[in-house]
This record gives sequence, C-alpha cells and structure tokens, in this order.
Amino acid sequence: MIRMGVVGYGYWGPNIVRNLRSLEGCEVAAVCDQSPAAVRRIKQAHPDLTVTTQASELLTSTEIDAIAVVTPVCTHFELAKAALQNGKHVFVEKPFTATTQQAEELIELAERKNLKIMVDHTFLFTGAVRKIRELIDEGVLGDLYYYDSTRVNLGLFQHDVSVVWDLAPHDLSIMSFLIPQEPEAVVATGQSHLNGLVDVAFLTVYFPGNTIAHINVNWLSPVKVRTTLLGGEKKMLVWNDLEADEKLKIYDKGAQINNGQGLYELMVSYRSGDMWAPRVEQTEALKVELGHFMDCISKDRSPINDGVAGLRVVKLLEAADRSLAERGRAVRV
Ligand SMILES: NC(=O)c1ccc[n+]([C@@H]2O[C@H](COP(=O)([O-])OP(=O)(O)OC[C@H]3O[C@@H](n4cnc5c(N)ncnc54)[C@H](O)[C@@H]3O)[C@@H](O)[C@H]2O)c1
Repeated sequence: MIRMGVVGYGYWGPNIVRNLRSLEGCEVAAVCDQSPAAVRRIKQAHPDLTVTTQASELLTSTEIDAIAVVTPVCTHFELAKAALQNGKHVFVEKPFTATTQQAEELIELAERKNLKIMVDHTFLFTGAVRKIRELIDEGVLGDLYYYDSTRVNLGLFQHDVSVVWDLAPHDLSIMSFLIPQEPEAVVATGQSHLNGLVDVAFLTVYFPGNTIAHINVNWLSPVKVRTTLLGGEKKMLVWNDLEADEKLKIYDKGAQINNGQGLYELMVSYRSGDMWAPRVEQTEALKVELGHFMDCISKDRSPINDGVAGLRVVKLLEAADRSLAERGRAVRV
C-alpha cells in the first residue's frame, strides 16, 4: 500500500484526490491546502480524510510515502525539494519547475536518494496519444513531416504564468513523447493584452532533419479548440480531442513530386485514399497515470514522464520565453 499526501486542492487537486482514491494499492493519507475555503471543500467531498493547512505536516509525516504537488508553478520546487529531502517520492504538476536549474537540482536529489519523480504530463496517458505513438512506432505514418497543434479557449487566465507556461507544456510533452529526436531551436511570438502576461502565443520547434512542430496557445479565443494534425510521409492524422467517439482520424493522403528536369516539368501527384478512425481507449488518463506512478514506486522503475521528461519541457519553455522577448528570434536548445 502506497500512502499519498496531496498538497493543493484548488482547480486540479480534486481530480488528483478522486483518482488516487479509486486506485488499488494506494491510500490518500492526508490532503493539505493553505486556503480555509479549500479545506472546507475537501471536508465536504471527503469527510473521512485527514486535512490540514500546513504542508510541513505532510512533508515530514512518517505515515506518508509520496507527495503530490498540485499547487501553482512558483511553489513546485520548494515543495518537491522538501518532499524528496524527507525521503518521499514526488508527483509534481506540469510544468515541472519554473527554471531548468530547479529541475536539474530535483533530478539530482531524487537520484541521490533513490526516489521517483513523476511530472503530470497527463496527455501521455490518453488513449489518443498512446494510439498515435503506436502508429508512429509501427511505421504507419512514415517519416514525420510536422506536428501542428491548436489549444485555444477563453481563459482560464492564470495569475502567475503566461499562456505558454500554462497550456504549451501539454503540447511540448506530447510532442517530445511522439518525436524521438531532441529539438534544435525554438521560435516564439506572442502578445499580452490583459494582465501583462502573454495570453496569445505561437511556438515553432525545429528538429534535426525536416520535422517541424507548431503550437498555438491562446486564452482569448471565443471557441475551444483542441486539434492536432500530424503529417507523415505515408499517412496523415487528425486528433480532435473534443470529439466524443472518433477522436483520431487517419487519412491515406499525401503528395509526391515526380520531377522532370526543369521547373516547368515539376509534376506533383496527390494521393487521396481512405480515412479510418481507430478505436481509442477511453479510461481516464489521470487514473492510468497515477497507476503508473504506483507501479514505478513499487517495482522501482522510471516513469515515462520522469524528471528528465519534465526538464525537457521546462527547457523548451525557457527557450520560448527568450524568443518571445526578442519577437521571434530563433533560440537554440
Ligand atoms: N495536468 C493538467 O491537465 C493540469 C490541469 C490544471 C492545472 N494543472 C496544474 O496544477 C497546478 C495547480 O493548478 P490549479 O489550477 O489547481 O491552481 P489553483 O490556484 O486553482 O489551486 C492551487 C491550490 O494550491 C494551494 N496552495 C498554494 N500553495 C500552497 C502551499 N504552499 N501549501 C498548501 N496549499 C497551497 C492554493 O491555496 C490553491 O487552493 C499547476 O501547476 C497547474 O499547471 C495541471
């Protein structure tokens, strides 16, 4: 039985507590939030749980094996560090930390103490992303031309981070999971309109070879869009995460150049074949992910979304910030 302590019960914390409580082999030992209003909500939803406003009680408890840090980004490092120092495994919300230096320090500390770090890259555990990875691994898409994602809606405005640090970690973690290459450079443009934090942004990530990724994140969109296109040499796919049933559609479409010698002899042939929608597992991603965390602790394995995966995303976010500050200069990573 792995005994969990959860710190942070705002918007996302309730999902963590609910899913942890649905897992066999896991017990929620205590939940903490510094806000009295949050404490009232915890007591109402889970009257049987131990609740406190002091994170230190969880961090030093001998009755707790692992801590979930579900608080704003600026607090991740201190809470995760204290948890590791007290011999506890940590599950940290995305983005892992506010700087690469903090991420490196936590990775080093966890290694030294032989403890696990898992960063909540929830989408890696969705049926859709696992299916896409399978299609890539089996060579169905062929060489990848591009990854192009749109993640826009109205709000939720964050107080401490820009839309890039709030929404792009999802796409950057998915992209890193699907494209088995280290990115070379990031170009980011964007603008802030309301509270001084960038609320509309466009990121381009260059990989060695000719694979390119583009990510559009926006808190000022009138409609919610969660659509990703992946273009491959052999097949192309559309992932619409807002679709209830057919989230993934694979198209046997493409273009080929059969060139002659000169410009006027350039011949493009287009392929327009079938479209199909593969079955996608519907289990709640967070439940699968937290189950993976329990497994990694009990079997002493590295999570697929470990500290190094978290660091990779933070590096790209920092590069995006540097590029944004210079209106889209290409920043090497
Ligand atoms: N994986 C996902 O899909 C997903 C979705 C939403 C949010 N998140 C992440 O979850 C984290 C929290 O986001 P949120 O939207 O729930 O924020 P939130 O502001 O709604 O909630 C944070 C809670 O943490 C509490 N808190 C802050 N510092 C604390 C401390 N030192 N001790 C105890 N309690 C403390 C606050 O009182 C608040 O109730 C962020 O890192 C965010 O990026 C992830």
